[in-house]
Amino acid sequence: MSRLDVVIFGATGFTGAKTVEEMVRIAKKYPGLAWGVAGRSQSKLEELMASLGKKTGEDLSGIKMIVADVTDEQSIKDMCLQARVVANCAGPYRMYGEPVVKAAVEAKTHVVDVSGESQVRHKQVFKSLFPQWRSVLKGGGGAHLGGGKIP
Ligand SMILES: NC(=O)c1ccc[n+]([C@@H]2O[C@H](COP(=O)([O-])OP(=O)(O)OC[C@H]3O[C@@H](n4cnc5c(N)ncnc54)[C@H](OP(=O)(O)O)[C@@H]3O)[C@@H](O)[C@H]2O)c1
Repeated sequence: MSRLDVVIFGATGFTGAKTVEEMVRIAKKYPGLAWGVAGRSQSKLEELMASLGKKTGEDLSGIKMIVADVTDEQSIKDMCLQARVVANCAGPYRMYGEPVVKAAVEAKTHVVDVSGESQVRHKQVFKSLFPQWRSVLKGGGGAHLGGGKIP
């Protein structure tokens, strides 16, 4: 299965919706960019894309929507397998961040979180997943963490 370049997870939240709106703007400059949105509710994703389509005047009907819930490990893994990069806007990160990083490492997917939360938590996640992450990197896959990026 070919992967989307970017999937914005947590798209229906405050930060996620801002990130999706920015992606609509960026994607106009990169016509080949394949991107999608993900969240735990299909109907909320549909509402979001309909309202952003109206607001931006862009046809967003071709944008892939992926249903994934942090409490459903397999759905997060399936989402990661469909992306080269996951931009994780689901939060709070301290509660929901780690399962996404874990699945991304397993799927060899890059993950960027936009959390403005404590860097201590990032360090904990990094430490607990580091051995697995290192072996993925050695095997030629890739996954990394970012933190504190304002969309
Ligand atoms: N860097 C910055 O400038 C900045 C600014 C603001 C926030 N943030 C960070 O962004 C993150 C989200 O904050 P927010 O203010 O956008 O919160 P929010 O509006 O409450 O959005 C939370 C998002 O997480 C999703 N979510 C919650 N539980 C989930 C689950 N079990 N599975 C899948 N998705 C789930 C929600 O889905 P539903 O829509 O279905 O409820 C929603 O899309 C936080 O980590 C926060 O620290 C960063």
